[in-house]
Amino acid sequence: MSNQREQWGSKLGFILAASGSAVGIGNIWKFPHMAGQNGGAAFTLVYLACIFVVGLSLVIAEFVIGRRTQLSPVGAFEKLAPGTNWKWVGFLGVASAFVILSFYGVVGGWIMKYIIISVTGGFKELAGDPAAASSVFNNFINGTWSPIFFQVIFMTVCIWVIVNGVKGGIEKWSKIMMPLIIILLGALAVRGMTLPGGMEGISFLFKPRFEDLTASSVVLALGHSFFTLSLGMGTMITYGSYLGRKQNLLNSALWVIALDTAIAMLAGIAIFTMVFALGANPEAGNGIFVVLPSVFPQLPGGTVWGTLFFVLLFMAALTSAISILEVVTAYFIDQKGWTRKKATIQFGLVITIVGAFCSFSMGGGINITEFLGMSFFDFMDYLSSKYMLPIGGMLTAIFVLKKWGVDHFIEELKIGMDKSIVSKEIIIVLLGIAATVVGFIIINEVLDIAFGIKLIQ
Ligand code: PFF
Repeated sequence: MSNQREQWGSKLGFILAASGSAVGIGNIWKFPHMAGQNGGAAFTLVYLACIFVVGLSLVIAEFVIGRRTQLSPVGAFEKLAPGTNWKWVGFLGVASAFVILSFYGVVGGWIMKYIIISVTGGFKELAGDPAAASSVFNNFINGTWSPIFFQVIFMTVCIWVIVNGVKGGIEKWSKIMMPLIIILLGALAVRGMTLPGGMEGISFLFKPRFEDLTASSVVLALGHSFFTLSLGMGTMITYGSYLGRKQNLLNSALWVIALDTAIAMLAGIAIFTMVFALGANPEAGNGIFVVLPSVFPQLPGGTVWGTLFFVLLFMAALTSAISILEVVTAYFIDQKGWTRKKATIQFGLVITIVGAFCSFSMGGGINITEFLGMSFFDFMDYLSSKYMLPIGGMLTAIFVLKKWGVDHFIEELKIGMDKSIVSKEIIIVLLGIAATVVGFIIINEVLDIAFGIKLIQ
């Protein structure tokens, strides 16, 4: 079976597909939103530390596991540790894909709706009036069928890309969309910086005020570093499994991290420079759907800028959503022998249906859970970012350290590298830190929820 496995067409294609997975709503919506609400630069700093210490080693680990086994997560863990329970880490990944894509697809639908609002000049009447923008947003997401209509379109596009295969679908579209995302976001950031007063946005994002740093912002930054790098659910294992022996995995991981971080920073710059220049509130919630629609029309050519922003956000969301669905598709192809088409359509449909309940829970009528005081939508986000991905990442690090063995890991990592500059000690330290930090944070959270005890405040 493995010699017929689909492969990426080029080294660059793989890097763009993997960074396309990483760059998504997390970079353009979640990161600026979290930074805005957690003291700006102080949060940025912790976020960068998490990305480079915890994120880098895990991106490499997932690529290595995927390429070595040429299998998606369940099969990969089973192949490296046959007959053990490690395959459950793979199943956790497949479950995370269901959880994340269900709410991610809903937001993808909102973005499509906002492209239409912007193109048709709908932001004009919201100029300088975030309250009006907020009611437009809330009326839309609280509706029953309209958000679902757009979610279904988004999911259909996603299914269509995946059905076209690794090279003909995922790689092809990542190669088109990633450069466009960078160009458009770069243009928006330059526009923001050249606005009078825009530079205040830069110092908000990059000048640290440590008094704003709290333990909960550290936890948030850590969880987000998993989400933004698509880690802890086997996405990078799956993408790595379509690689041949020539790819330099260390280089590829550095590229993915650099692009992901650069795009989060560019998004922060574009958003905060405009927000500060036009006197909006940087801490307002749901910034991109509420603050920006009231800010764009105040710029000359605002309709064009607004539309470009939501188009680039759509592309970023799509390249990520396809990677999530690919984890599920690859599981059914590898482990159950299904065809790509059957797996993608059937499970794309199931996820769309679960997602509809996320959408309904925003106010459209049905909220199937009020667990921990959250809507179903927020619960799915909370469950995946705070628990499923960090636990998956922690177990992956422990797997390499304790089960598979760092020597085997390094043997695979070195394939495709010209110079073998890999240090066993550094790998052990980095993976060890990743596993320990995540373990500690999760214990802290669980103790807090169960007994109200916080080890760190
Ligand atoms: N990394 C994506 C983002 O930042 O929006 C979200 C994501 C994609 C999470 C793929 C997990 C995943 F496997």
